[in-house]
Amino acid sequence: MKEKLQKIREQAIAEIENSEGIDKLIEVRSAVLGKKGELTAILKKMKEVAPEDRPKVGQWVNETREAIEAILDEKKKAFEAEALRLRYEKEKIDVTMPAERQEKGNLHPVTQVRNQLTDIFASMGFEIYEGTEIETDYYNFTALNTAKDHPARDMQDTFYLSPEFLLRTQTSAGQIHVMEEKKPPIKIISPGKVFRSDDDATHSPMFTQMEGLVVDHGITLCDLKGMLEEFARRIFGKNVTTRLRPSYFPFTEPSVEVDVSCFQCGGKGCRLCKGTGWIEVLGAGVVNHRVLEGCGIDAEEYSGFAFGMGIERIAMLKYGINNIKLLFESDLRVLKQIDD
Ligand code: PHE
Repeated sequence: MKEKLQKIREQAIAEIENSEGIDKLIEVRSAVLGKKGELTAILKKMKEVAPEDRPKVGQWVNETREAIEAILDEKKKAFEAEALRLRYEKEKIDVTMPAERQEKGNLHPVTQVRNQLTDIFASMGFEIYEGTEIETDYYNFTALNTAKDHPARDMQDTFYLSPEFLLRTQTSAGQIHVMEEKKPPIKIISPGKVFRSDDDATHSPMFTQMEGLVVDHGITLCDLKGMLEEFARRIFGKNVTTRLRPSYFPFTEPSVEVDVSCFQCGGKGCRLCKGTGWIEVLGAGVVNHRVLEGCGIDAEEYSGFAFGMGIERIAMLKYGINNIKLLFESDLRVLKQIDD
C-alpha cells in the first residue's frame, strides 16, 4: 500500500512539475484528489484494510494528499506570478519617455482679426450684416454714386461675371442693401470677402473687408472720428491716436483716409511707418447725400458715416507680416506663430 501511495505521489508530482499551465493542474488535481480520483478510490477501499492498519494507512493517504496539494499550490502560485510578470512586461510604461506632443490648433490670423474687429464693434452696438460675394453692377457701383463711366471705377479692377453681375470689389455694396431694407437708425458692420484683379506683395485678388455704416439724426464727421479713436486704441493699443486726411470716394463726402499713430515707434518714425510716424489703416467719410436719397432716405433729416478697412492689412500690421500671400498659403510655420 505504501508503495502504491508513493507511486501515486511521484507520478502526480512529475505531472505537476511538467505541466505547462493552470489547466493541467486542475486536471491533475481532479485525477488524483477529485471525487473519482485515485486517492479517493483508496479511501473508499478502506474497509478492505485490516482495522488495526487503518489509522496508519489513513495517515499515509493524508500525507500523500497534503504533499500533492502543497506542490499543486506552489506550482499554481508560480504560474500566477509568471502571468502577472508577463502582464507587467506588456503594460510597462516608461515614465521617463518624452511625452507625445499634443498639437494645439488656432484660428487663422485673418479670422482672429475679424473676430477682434467684430467684438469691438459689437460692443459699440453695431449689428452684423453679411452681404453676398456676387453682386450686381448697380449695388457695387451705380448706387454708390459710381455710374458707368465714372472715373472712380478705375480705382478697382473688377471681375465681371456678365455685364450685370460681378464679384463685389467692396463690402460697401452691402450699405445699399441695408439702407434699402431698413430705415434709420442704422448701425451695422459688414465683414466679408471682396475681389479685385490686383496682385502684389500687399494686394491679393481675394481679400477681406470690414464695412461700417451708421445713419441717424445728426451724425457728423466728429462721431466718426470719436468712434475711430476708440476703435484704434482697442485694436492697436491704448496709446494710439488717429488722424484724418482728405481723400476721395464717390459715395462719401467729405471722404477721409484714416491714419493711426505708429504703434511700433510711438510716432517717432520707424520702418513700419516708413519714418512718418503714421500708418494708413482705412477709408471713411460722411455718406454722400446722393447715396442716401438713392436708397429712399431723406438726406435733410438723416446723415451718416461709413468706413471700410482691409482685414488682411490690419493683420499684417498687427503681426508684422510683410507679404499678404503668407496669409493665403496656409503655411503652418507662419500660422502657428500667430495666436492672440
Ligand atoms: N469701399 C472703400 C474701398 O474699398 C472703402 C470705404 C468704405 C471708403 C466706406 C469710405 C467709406 O476702398
